[in-house]
Amino acid sequence: MLVSAKDMLTKAKAGKYAVGQFNINNLEWTKSILLTAEELKSPVILGVSEGAGKYMCGYKTVVGMVNGMLEELGITVPVALHLDHGSYEGAKACIEAGFSSIMFDGSHYPIEENVAKTKELVAICNEKGMSIEAEVGSIGGEEDGVVGAGECADPEECKMIADLGVTMLAAGIGNIHGKYPENWAGLSFETLDAVQKLTGDMPLVLHGGTGIPEDMIQKAISLGVSKINVNTECQLSFADATRKYIEAGKDLEGKGFDPRKLLAPGADAIKATVKEKMELFGSVGKA
Ligand code: 13P
Repeated sequence: MLVSAKDMLTKAKAGKYAVGQFNINNLEWTKSILLTAEELKSPVILGVSEGAGKYMCGYKTVVGMVNGMLEELGITVPVALHLDHGSYEGAKACIEAGFSSIMFDGSHYPIEENVAKTKELVAICNEKGMSIEAEVGSIGGEEDGVVGAGECADPEECKMIADLGVTMLAAGIGNIHGKYPENWAGLSFETLDAVQKLTGDMPLVLHGGTGIPEDMIQKAISLGVSKINVNTECQLSFADATRKYIEAGKDLEGKGFDPRKLLAPGADAIKATVKEKMELFGSVGKA
């Protein structure tokens, strides 16, 4: 059964480790992430962007697929199904469809409007026992066509949103989605420290987990980050393994064109990436 992300993140914050949010794109992604979480006895959050939701034929299809897998694969670790960077309408649709967690990304609204919409969604999520993530300060880079500048959040605004009763808070600290450019200035630990001082026990979320050096990840966890989002890195490892399979001509040998064979190296590569991240984040054995 899907669970809210609240318990797993409260434990992560107290235990100074982070739970990974891995974005899903299809059946292979979902299966690889769930099997790895189960094998490593780690809690996990499956992230679904609005674009990926559409691609997978809508939120209800996603809920059906994930619930089916939890049962048929015998998954016992805590799993949350979470809308990533949701619009106000998207958040409502996922609540209806049976997600167990949502992110409402109101970072592009003026703060008053972000507050009003977040408040309304917090009330609905509380009533349904769902977790809700809010964002302050846009996360840079491009995700599903939304381009952000990678700004640092205002700690006072973070406190204002945290006080609305959200479960977890994403604060921009110079992080960006996708690959980091050569001249990236790194994470702003000064901002993170200031945000944590004002928000106390609130689990903080680090987006753009792909390509952040290990020492920065560890420092971010020590300063209150309890959820780290990873998307691009699984895509890159899947693409790399699939390319190698095709370039080696394996699809032309025997029944190598069978999708169950052709997609297997990519699916294994996702498992390896997820394992590496769970070990780095410290969530192994915490389920
Ligand atoms: P990356 O694609 O950079 O790993 O970011 C993922 C993310 O933050 C999803 O919200």
